Parts: sequence; C-alpha cells; structure tokens
Amino acid sequence: PAPPLAATPPMGWNSWNWFAEKVTDKDVRQAADLLVSSGMRDAGYIYVNIDDTWEGVRDQNGDLHSNEKFPDMKALSDYVHSKGLKLGIYSSPGAKTCARFEGSMGHEDQDARLYASWGIDYLKYDLCSFHNGVMRKDHPGDSPEAMTFQYKAMREAYEKMHQALLKTGRPIVYSLCQYGFDSVWQWGPEVGANLWRTTGDISPSFDRISLIGREQAGLARYAGPGHWNDPDMLEVGNGKLTLDENRTHMGMWAMLAAPLLAGNNLSQLTSETTAILTNREILAIDQDPLGKQADRIYAEGPVEIWARPLADGSVALAIFNFGEQRTYMRGISLHLEQAGAASGWRAHDVWMAKDLGPISNTLPITVPRHGSVILRLSK
Ligand code: DGJ
Repeated sequence: PAPPLAATPPMGWNSWNWFAEKVTDKDVRQAADLLVSSGMRDAGYIYVNIDDTWEGVRDQNGDLHSNEKFPDMKALSDYVHSKGLKLGIYSSPGAKTCARFEGSMGHEDQDARLYASWGIDYLKYDLCSFHNGVMRKDHPGDSPEAMTFQYKAMREAYEKMHQALLKTGRPIVYSLCQYGFDSVWQWGPEVGANLWRTTGDISPSFDRISLIGREQAGLARYAGPGHWNDPDMLEVGNGKLTLDENRTHMGMWAMLAAPLLAGNNLSQLTSETTAILTNREILAIDQDPLGKQADRIYAEGPVEIWARPLADGSVALAIFNFGEQRTYMRGISLHLEQAGAASGWRAHDVWMAKDLGPISNTLPITVPRHGSVILRLSK
C-alpha cells in the first residue's frame, strides 16, 4: 500500500508569496531547478505548488483549461516530476478564486479528474467567493443562523472535493485554505484535509509573522500525522526580515509542526536564507515522526517559551523574544518540568549548533530582539 499522505508536515515551495498573480510556467520550472541546485529538494522540499492565477476558461463541456501563462500543464508536470519533485495546484470551492479566476463550484469531479490526468500531487482549496461572495472574513450583520447555514455549506463543499479527489484514485494532498473559520481544526480531518489554514494571510513583516505564530497556542492537540495546522507559507527570505527574524519565523514554524512551503524567489536565494531553510536540526524538529506540535508553556510580556516532545524522547524547547529589547534569561525559569524535561538534562543549541552540556532551570542566555533560542533537550 502507498505510504500515508503527509505523515509529516508537507514541505516545498509555493508561488504566491513572491510571484502572486504574475507567476508563469517559466517561473515554476525555474523554481523546480533551483530547489534541486540549492539542496532544498534533498533537505525535503519536494512540492512545487502553483497558486492562484493559472486558470483559464471552461469549454462547452465544462472542462477547464489553463491560461496562456501555463500553455501545457502536463508538460510542466512531467518536467517537475523528472526532477524528483511533486506538483501542486490551486482552486476554490466557490465560483471564483480569490484573484477572480475560475473556481471549482459545480465542477468538482471534472476538476479533480483533470488534476489527476496532469499528475497533480497536491491541491490547495481556497475559500473565496463562496456562496456568491457571502462567505467573507467580515460579514457584519450576519445572524448566527445565517453563519451556521454558511458553515454547513462550506463543510459540504470541502467534502465534495474530498470525494472527487478520492475517486481519481491518485494520492493528492488536500490543503484547505480556509482561514480558521468555524474552528476548522476540529473537523478538518473529517473532510479529508491533510492541512488547514488557521489564520488570515501572512506577510513579510515580523509583526504579522509573530502574531500568527503566537495565535497557534492551544491548537497542538489537533495536529498529528496526516493532518496539520497550517499557519501559512514561509516568508523566510522575503521583505526586510533580519537574520534573527527569519530564524524566529523558521524556528517557530518548526516548533509548530507547520507545513514548510518556502514562499521566496529562489533565484535570489542568499547563503543566509538557504542556511535557514535547510538547517537539518530545525527540519528534524519540524519533521519529527511523532508529529506532536509545540504548545506555549510560559508567557510574560514579549518572552514566550514553547515546547514539544520528540520521537526519541528528547524535547524541543524554544524561547522567543518578540520584544524590542534583548532579554537576559538568568532568573527566568525555563519551565523544564512543564516541557517534559528536567534540570540536569543535556541541551543542544540548534541555531548555534553547539552542545551546552547539562542545564539548570535558569539558564543564563541572552535572547536578542525578535530573536529565539531553540534547544534540543535530552536525558
Ligand atoms: C488567499 C490565500 O491566503 C493566499 O495564500 C493565496 O492563495 C491567495 N488567496 C490567492 O488568491
């Protein structure tokens, strides 16, 4: 039998955060080439995901075609597969996508068959223009009854595509882009989702990234092999994020067992960005086979401590400093007991790639502004 889909959080690249509506066939081929040459593929980034704006028109049979930016999807798919990578695509349960291209409403089976015929391995299904645009992030004045009705229709639409994908017989990772409506983490697995967005869109700003990260507190119990919380795609290497900010973003996503979809322009990869994205110890935390997402065990002002148990009995512990001042941790308890560790356990500093030896509950370390320290603790 085929291995289960998304046994660990999916890793790859997605076109949206950098290219947005401008993405073309050429950009996707180039991303595939660069995933290989940068070493990212070998580090685990195997999905090459085309986001919104590839869609063309439906012919008189209702069959959807790609638009002029993607002249031959099957050829593109063959190319991506020839590099040892997998191809992802995008649609919406509504009539239109967020960028106002053709959605899948009423054409679920047809579209799923089309994806399978192209050799698609991953579908991101984005809640846009649902119910003629009724379902939006802000619907002031909607009564609770109206909301219940919409939520039911939304779940049914996600289930419809789930069934359509199953019927193709092709293993296709199913990603709900759904912004956390109706506590999707509680029912995502029931509609076959391998991952579901928990918040609104990310942007390459440290405020936005840290807000999204902090909002994941309490969601750990809903994640596990095959079904993951998705705090959105990575902005590592985008915007003007500093080294510490990029590391905090990456480290937080790894602690969260988040899907890791790089969202940067791979043709502008710097050695710093590559080192962050391919850090083996960070990726080992994200991809830990136990699949237990971190939860927050301490918060005071801008300093937070998150911890997750790992398959080999060790514990990943992250100290985040979201504040504007560097913080000296002497005297601040690491809350080792709550983390499932204890004083005397040995610590390895992941970003510094350095063994710290046995530690006590009050480790004298400095966490820089917007920075983080990630420790792997073992008995
Ligand atoms: C909203 C999503 O959150 C983005 O990631 C992207 O898929 C756009 N829609 C595309 O229109």
